Amino acid sequence: MAQFIEELKKSHGAGELRLSHKGEQVVLMGWVDTVRDLGGTLFIDLRDRSGICQVVLGSEQLNDLQLEVARSLRQEYVVAIMGDVIARGGKPNTNLKTGEIEVLAKDVALLNRSQPMPFQIADNVDTGEEVRLKYRFLDLRRAPLQKALLMRSKAALIAREHFASENFIEVETPILTKSTPEGARDYLVPSRINKGKFFALPQSPQLFKQLLQVAGFERYFQICKCFRDEDLRADRQPEFTQIDLEMSFVTPDDIMAVCDGMLQKMFKHILNVDIETPIPRITYDEAMARYGVDNPDVRFGMELFDITEDTRDSAFKVFSGPATGGGLVTGIVVAGGASFSRKDVDALTEFVKTYGAKGLAWLKRNDGAFSGPVSKFVDVALEKALLEKAAMKDGDIALIVADMDASVARTAAGRLRTHVAKSQGMVNPGQFGFTWVTDFPMFEKDEETGKLAAMHHPFTSPRPEDVSMLSTDPLKVKTRAYDIVLNGQEIGGGSIRIHNQDVQAEVFKALGIGDEEARNKFGFLLDALSFGAPPHGGLAFGFDRLVSIMSGLDSIRDVIAFPKTTRAGCLMTDAPSEVDDKQLTELGIKRLD
Ligand code: AMO
Ligand code: AMP
Repeated sequence: MAQFIEELKKSHGAGELRLSHKGEQVVLMGWVDTVRDLGGTLFIDLRDRSGICQVVLGSEQLNDLQLEVARSLRQEYVVAIMGDVIARGGKPNTNLKTGEIEVLAKDVALLNRSQPMPFQIADNVDTGEEVRLKYRFLDLRRAPLQKALLMRSKAALIAREHFASENFIEVETPILTKSTPEGARDYLVPSRINKGKFFALPQSPQLFKQLLQVAGFERYFQICKCFRDEDLRADRQPEFTQIDLEMSFVTPDDIMAVCDGMLQKMFKHILNVDIETPIPRITYDEAMARYGVDNPDVRFGMELFDITEDTRDSAFKVFSGPATGGGLVTGIVVAGGASFSRKDVDALTEFVKTYGAKGLAWLKRNDGAFSGPVSKFVDVALEKALLEKAAMKDGDIALIVADMDASVARTAAGRLRTHVAKSQGMVNPGQFGFTWVTDFPMFEKDEETGKLAAMHHPFTSPRPEDVSMLSTDPLKVKTRAYDIVLNGQEIGGGSIRIHNQDVQAEVFKALGIGDEEARNKFGFLLDALSFGAPPHGGLAFGFDRLVSIMSGLDSIRDVIAFPKTTRAGCLMTDAPSEVDDKQLTELGIKRLD
C-alpha cells in the first residue's frame, strides 16, 4: 500500500461528506486530528482544509499489515484512507458538519509522520503567540485561521471582479522605488550597482497611480503591498495590503459610490449582510463634535454633548475656566450609569487621564436630583443643559471633561465614549457600522516642531473655495479627502488630488518643502502635472483591517498568513537577520564598530 498516493486520487474533502454520500467509496487524504483506540478498533478524526470526518479502522476490514499502520498513527501524521461512507454507528455528532456519517476504512497508507506538536491544533489555544508565530505553519492549520485566510481570498476575488466590472484595469507598480510621503519612515534597500544610493519600498503606490492617470488609464486598481516603518499596534503591520484605486474625471461622490459598491458585494457574498448604500457621510468637523474622534464607532449613540456655553458663569472653576478661556467642556451621558460605583468612576477618571485630561467630573441623576461631588455647582444653566441638550434622565450619569485645550477634552471624551460602550456591552459584535468622514483639514500642526504636516498627504486637493487660504490661514483649509470608517476603525482613505502644478507648489510651500527639495523628491510628479494631467482622485482600503473586522478577529495579524511581531520581526524565519561582511562590502556598507 505504500504506493497508495500514486494509484489513488483524493476524492473528497473530509469535511464535505454528508449522509447523501452514504454507500460511496471515497479516498480521503489529510492529517490525523485525534486518535482513539477502543480495544482494537481505532477511531481517527481526519482533518483537511474542508473540515473533519471520523474514520473507523477495524480488524474486520483491514489486514494485519494495514492494522499495524493504523496503530502507528499519531496526531498530525499525514494519511490516506480508502473506505465506504456509512451512517454513524453511535449518535450523530452535532458538533461536526459530517456528524451523521463516518468512513469505514478498507485501506490506509501513512504518507508522512510528524514530531510531537509544540501546541494543540485546536480552535482555541492558550499557547502564547510567540510560540505560535514561530511555528506559524502549524498555527495556520487551525480552523479559525484557515477560515480567515479563505475569507481574505474570497474578498480579494470580489474586489477584483467588482473593479473589473466597473471598467478598472489592474496595473502593478514598482516595489523598488523612491520615497513616497505617507508620513511613516521608509524601509530602505541599498543599491549594489549604485553604491551609496538607496531604493525606498513604497508606503503606497500613491504617486504611480497618479502618474497612471496622467498616462490616460482613467481607472486603475491594484491589490498591493505597502511598507511602513512605524510603531506597530494590533491594527498596524510594517508590510500590509491595500486595495488601491484611482480614477480620472470624477468627484468624491463617484469614488465613494464605487467603494460603497465593493463593500456591499463583499458583505453580501461573504457574510450575507446587507449594507445600505450610499453609506452615510459626515464631515470631519461634525465627527469631532459628535464623537470626539475622526474614526467614530457609529454602532451606538451616546454622542458627546458640548456644555461650554452653559458653564461660562459656573462657580466651578474647572468648568468656567475652559469655558471662558477658549477651551471646551464636553462629555457623555451614560444611560443607567447612576449605578456606577465609586470604583467604576475612579477607573474611568484614570482612563481619561491617559488621554491628557486633568480629571473627570461626574453627576448622577436620581429621583429628579443631581448627586456627586460637583452637584453643589449645578446651577440653572447647567441643569437645563444636562436635562435638555444632553437628554439626561433619572438613573443616568453624566461624565464631563473640561480642558483649556479643546482637542484634549474632545479626544478624552471621545475615547471614553467607546470605552464605556464596550465595557457596558452596548456594542453588538455582530453589527457593522459604516460611515464616511469627509472634508478633512489639509494640515495639522506638529506640536514638537510647530511645523505644518499634511493630514492625508501633500497631493490632496484643498476644497476649491479654500485655496486662497493656503498662504494666509492654512490651518483653516479643508480638503476633498474622505475616510471610510467601519466599527470605529479607519479601513480606507483617499482624496481628490491636486492636478494643478501651481496649487501643488503652494501646498509644498505651506509644508516648508522648498522648490529644490520638491524637485528632488517629486520632480517627476510636478513634471507630469505640467503635461495635461486630468482631474483625478482615488482611495486605498486597508485590506487587512477590512478582513479582520469581517472575520470578527481582533488583530490584523490573524488575517495575514505570515505576519510580523510588534517588534517588526518574523519569529518563524528570524528576519531581519545578520548578513555577512562580503554582502555588505558589495553594497558599499561599512559596519559602525
Ligand atoms: P492611507 O495612508 O490612509 O492612504 O492608507 C490607506 C489605508 O491603509 C490602512 N493602513 C494600514 N493597515 C495596516 N498596517 C498599516 N501600517 C497601515 N497603514 C495604513 C488603513 C488606511 O486607511 N495613498 C493613500 C490612499 C489614497 O489617497 O488614495 C494612502 O495610502 O486602513
Ligand atoms: P478638584 O476640585 O480638583 O478636587 O476636582 C473636583 C472634581 O472635578 C473631581 O471629581 C475631579 O476629577 C474633577 N475634575 C478635575 N479637573 C477636571 C477637568 N479638567 N475636567 C473635568 N473634571 C475635572
